[in-house]
Amino acid sequence: MSDITRIGVLTSGGDAPGMNACLRAVVRRAVAEELEVVGIRQGYAGLIEGDFVEMDRQSVSNILGKGGTILKTARSNTFRQPEGRARSAENLRSAGIDALVAIGGNGTLRGAAMLHEEHGIAVIGCPGTIDNDLFGTDETVGYDTALNTAIENIDRIRDTADAHNRLFLIEVMGQDAGFIALNCGIGGGAELVLIPETLTQMSSIKEHILSLMVSQLRSSIVVVAEGEEMGGAVKIAEALKEDEAFAPIDLRVCILGHVQRGGSPTARDRVLASRLGSAAVDALLEGHDSVMVGVVNGDIKLTPIRQVCDRKKQIDYDLLNLSNLLS
Ligand code: F6P
Repeated sequence: MSDITRIGVLTSGGDAPGMNACLRAVVRRAVAEELEVVGIRQGYAGLIEGDFVEMDRQSVSNILGKGGTILKTARSNTFRQPEGRARSAENLRSAGIDALVAIGGNGTLRGAAMLHEEHGIAVIGCPGTIDNDLFGTDETVGYDTALNTAIENIDRIRDTADAHNRLFLIEVMGQDAGFIALNCGIGGGAELVLIPETLTQMSSIKEHILSLMVSQLRSSIVVVAEGEEMGGAVKIAEALKEDEAFAPIDLRVCILGHVQRGGSPTARDRVLASRLGSAAVDALLEGHDSVMVGVVNGDIKLTPIRQVCDRKKQIDYDLLNLSNLLS
């Protein structure tokens, strides 16, 4: 067991629907154990500035269903420098904070690992990113909501694509990972899915689209992850337009962008976030340190944060085959 009495909590990096639900769970679980909770505003930027606020049960009332994060978030360049992290550790110590719960994606967890390794700060990570690209958890907070938003939008685009027999390239988020693209491609019935994990030759992209559109005179949807090798939907569209065979094809590009990050979290994300936030406090009370709480095969699992940062979560290649098979 631990002698922790006062914890800090922050959200950092790209916001994700369900971060508020996770924060609520951290605060309420901690308060139930008679711990004091300090909210750190604007992620690591606020940690450097000492932008702290005392939190209690009331501070997290009515935030469960809200998108964004009431603590705000940021991507801090200063924190990437050793001086920024030293200042952060100093601020935590002078505020009497014994441990930090960091909610966010890869960069956030990397930051937490460095605070631990360089300054001995006790840290627990909670996976919060729409990208779902974290090793050590089957799902990250925000992923399910983003996926549903993407599918809803693909359905809408399908209507207009079909009405005009058009080709749509729909770009979804995912800098280094194709989890959103692959799954919304399957859920939205895309004719082709392009993700960073695999390299599809331009010649086979063209062949596939032409065989569907010219011979069968129908609309097509290609889902492209933003981090895809050829540089995203706009670049691919340009390359297709340069090919004479594509002259009869009416092509449009739609970049879904930040709509995927906003909105009220789905039921699945709310439950996941609540479980993970509560488990983060449990982990601290049980004396764990420098681990991320995740859910693997339905159960809470703790993984060393360093391992989460250093290992890449693999895409499910069976799903990729399924996507190709059904398109
Ligand atoms: O990490 C989550 C994410 O939404 C990525 O999918 C995307 O590439 C990135 O953040 C966008 O970040 P920003 O809002 O800072 O442009």
